[in-house]
Amino acid sequence: MSTVKEKLIENLIREDKSSQNKITIVGTGAVGMACAICVLLKVSTVIVAFLIQVLPLVSFLDYSVSANSKLVIVTAGARQQEGESRLALVQRNVNIMKSIIPTIVHYSPDCKILIVSNPVDILTYVVWKLSGLPATRVIGSGCNLDSARFRYLIGEKLGVHPASCHGWIIGEHGDSSVPLWSGVNVAGVALKTLDPNLGTGTDGDQWKNIHKQVIGSAYEIIKLKGYTSWAIGLSVTDLAGSILKNLRRVHPVSVMVKGFYGIKEELFLSIPCILGRNGVSDIVKVKLNSEEEVLFKKSADTLWDIQKELVF
Ligand code: 2OP
Repeated sequence: MSTVKEKLIENLIREDKSSQNKITIVGTGAVGMACAICVLLKVSTVIVAFLIQVLPLVSFLDYSVSANSKLVIVTAGARQQEGESRLALVQRNVNIMKSIIPTIVHYSPDCKILIVSNPVDILTYVVWKLSGLPATRVIGSGCNLDSARFRYLIGEKLGVHPASCHGWIIGEHGDSSVPLWSGVNVAGVALKTLDPNLGTGTDGDQWKNIHKQVIGSAYEIIKLKGYTSWAIGLSVTDLAGSILKNLRRVHPVSVMVKGFYGIKEELFLSIPCILGRNGVSDIVKVKLNSEEEVLFKKSADTLWDIQKELVF
């Protein structure tokens, strides 16, 4: 007996039901919800986002709903309290990653994982180790948001739209991040050529305060609102768009930097990378000046001092 559907439709080819744009978001706190809403609104391709809340060491949803995700965004974990640094969250959030990552990878072995939970650089290393995935498919949101804040503040100081103010922050997504003053430019005019002391603290305009404001912004927002969410949600959406649409845009994200800038350890830090459907396909070899090299090494040492003690 033919079904109504069989009487109505003559099928010609079997449809590939696996979505090419499926995202799983792990974490239903303020950041996870902001990511879900921003991604659904801005990354207009068909996406099915699942929010899986992971109670400490217990997950109460069936992870099979995440199967065959192309991108898994991890926001789950403890968040900074007022005045607390991102690094202080490390052991609590390492334990949560241990309870999430193996199952996520079991259901989506071909996924890219975008870690947002803090301290994002160290947790990206931990997720890389737990997942067994190639480092190019394990990415931390890193300094993508710091660089956006940096460009916004440069624009405020100059009276120029942030989209026309180019500046990069690399290193730790946190207190030891590194502003690349040598590369700050508007329309290709390097501001450092207009004032060689730019960002050193000895310049008349005190540009260095802009980086101080970037570092302080999360603390300030947490003091006022209790958490940050929309800025990081929009920043993550920026990254998800580049990955899912294979845009090959350059982003300052947390990647494995062993072998770059004299780093000898397996560390994840933000440097400018090309992001596409395969994750991190290329690293842009930015030339750092001597001060920037020293600061980048300091940032690496800050994270290594904590990472080398981790047990997971
Ligand atoms: C931010 O910078 C808390 O890492 C988060 O907004």
